[in-house]
Amino acid sequence: MQITSFSDMYIAELQELRDLEAQSSAALMRIANEASHPSLQTALMRHRRQSEMQGQRLDTLLQKRGANPREHTDQAMQALVKETDKMVALVNGDDLRDAALIASVQRIEHYEIAAYGTVAALAGQLDFRDDQKLLHESLEEEKEMDLLLTRLAKGEINQDALAA
Ligand SMILES: [Fe+2]
Repeated sequence: MQITSFSDMYIAELQELRDLEAQSSAALMRIANEASHPSLQTALMRHRRQSEMQGQRLDTLLQKRGANPREHTDQAMQALVKETDKMVALVNGDDLRDAALIASVQRIEHYEIAAYGTVAALAGQLDFRDDQKLLHESLEEEKEMDLLLTRLAKGEINQDALAA
């Protein structure tokens, strides 16, 4: 699809986000299975469910605009997931792997925060207030996950990794 208007651009960004969430949800499942600390595993599985819900929100928004949710592939997310898998394969030891997983997932979260922030701003400029509200909900969930990961890293996981 050629992008010739601001609203086309908004829809293309929503489609990218939709693919991002599909990739994120699949990756979180794999990453959670690699985690050793139960608190980290629980946080990752919980965020996976959140990610599925965020995907459904995007489906709703795309449907409203009559757009195909499967139009784009987010290659930046593909690269981030690939880096995570590469890291997991390299790291030896459960505690160290958990610390590496947090570092990788936080990188993904920061990317998601940037993506949702941008798309929510575009929705605002188009005066799509309901869309913006929904996008902000997902943005807040991504920020919460980022904070939770920082808490887990500082609270126990990185200490264990340092001691390993
Ligand atoms: Fe996320």
